[in-house]
Amino acid sequence: MPKAKITSLGCYVPPRVLTNQDLEKMVETNDKWIVERTGIRERHIADANVATSDMAIEAARCALAQRGVPATEVNAIIVCTVTPDMFFPSTACLVQNALGARGAWGFDLVAACSGFVYGLTTAAHLVGGGTHKKVLVIGADTMSRIIDYQDRATCVLFGDAAGAMLIEPAEGEDGSGFIDFVGEVDGSGGDFLKMPAGGSRMPPSHETVDQRLHYVHQDGSQVFKYAVRKMYEAGSELLQRNGLTTDDVGILIPHQANGRIISAAAERLGLTQRTLINIDKYGNTVAATIPLATRDAIQQGRLKRGDLVMFAAVGAGYTVGASLWRWAY
Ligand SMILES: CC(C)(COP(=O)(O)OP(=O)(O)OC[C@H]1O[C@@H](n2cnc3c(N)ncnc32)[C@H](O)[C@@H]1OP(=O)(O)O)[C@@H](O)C(=O)NCCC(=O)NCCS
Repeated sequence: MPKAKITSLGCYVPPRVLTNQDLEKMVETNDKWIVERTGIRERHIADANVATSDMAIEAARCALAQRGVPATEVNAIIVCTVTPDMFFPSTACLVQNALGARGAWGFDLVAACSGFVYGLTTAAHLVGGGTHKKVLVIGADTMSRIIDYQDRATCVLFGDAAGAMLIEPAEGEDGSGFIDFVGEVDGSGGDFLKMPAGGSRMPPSHETVDQRLHYVHQDGSQVFKYAVRKMYEAGSELLQRNGLTTDDVGILIPHQANGRIISAAAERLGLTQRTLINIDKYGNTVAATIPLATRDAIQQGRLKRGDLVMFAAVGAGYTVGASLWRWAY
């Protein structure tokens, strides 16, 4: 059976920048607090007429163009998002139509900040099973639509963006491609990070709007502690069961939720010097952080063909995921 490898990457970041200084004018906060407690200096915000599928389409087009692959050759599209354009049709359907990917099926994958790691793993198995030759995995979130810009504890954290990777069979014997994945969900953490209303439990009503229940609500310190511990545990288990040590890892590309979460997990893994942090420029873009960070790692010359890369994420749910890949290009 063929192994799966990542063969290209495309990203889209909306041009409008919201700086910490801008936020100082909106809520009771300051640049020093935000930088010290989160590592974030600025984030990008989509214009009002731009939805998640628009950013997803741009990122997907970029990934396909980089590889010279026509959209008609794509077999499946997985859009990882918690901010779809609407409940249905899925964002994957909207992306398929805009790309003209007439041979593709697809679906949206809801795993919050772990979405992209889950999407990559799903694609690796579709390709690795031999039934799919080209799978597009897209992480796209327009968090600014579900963030309460009166809540200083959440509004400083998030930004908007999209990233896409193309997964294809790894032919030949160079060992590149997908190696392994560790995942876990823990629904007992569901109350610590959620958007309470808008679904079948609490459909939209005047009350839910008045009570600001269509926004992200979180217990930051609970999420923080869980994220550090689980990112470390998932990463360690992945290495251990593959007979690897941290010395084998070329780079850790973690979900970017908070610079202190990343630093603490990286330190426990012994990967402080080999961890990509770019949260200062984008904030937490949820399903898009890993492709954006991968792009930066490539541009900085820190990720090259043959390197062992670990992706790791913890998100709302809770969801946890980490995967190992031998970089293929
Ligand atoms: C949200 C987070 C940055 C808060 O940092 P923290 O060090 O835990 O801070 P606390 O929540 O304990 O708040 C400390 C104080 O700062 C205040 N504060 C919160 N947000 C603030 C802001 N933007 N500016 C200034 N002060 C702020 C709080 O009100 C609190 O004040 P108090 O002590 O008077 O009550 C941090 O908990 C975090 O990043 N958690 C994880 C969130 C996350 O990753 N979510 C996505 C998951 S993938």
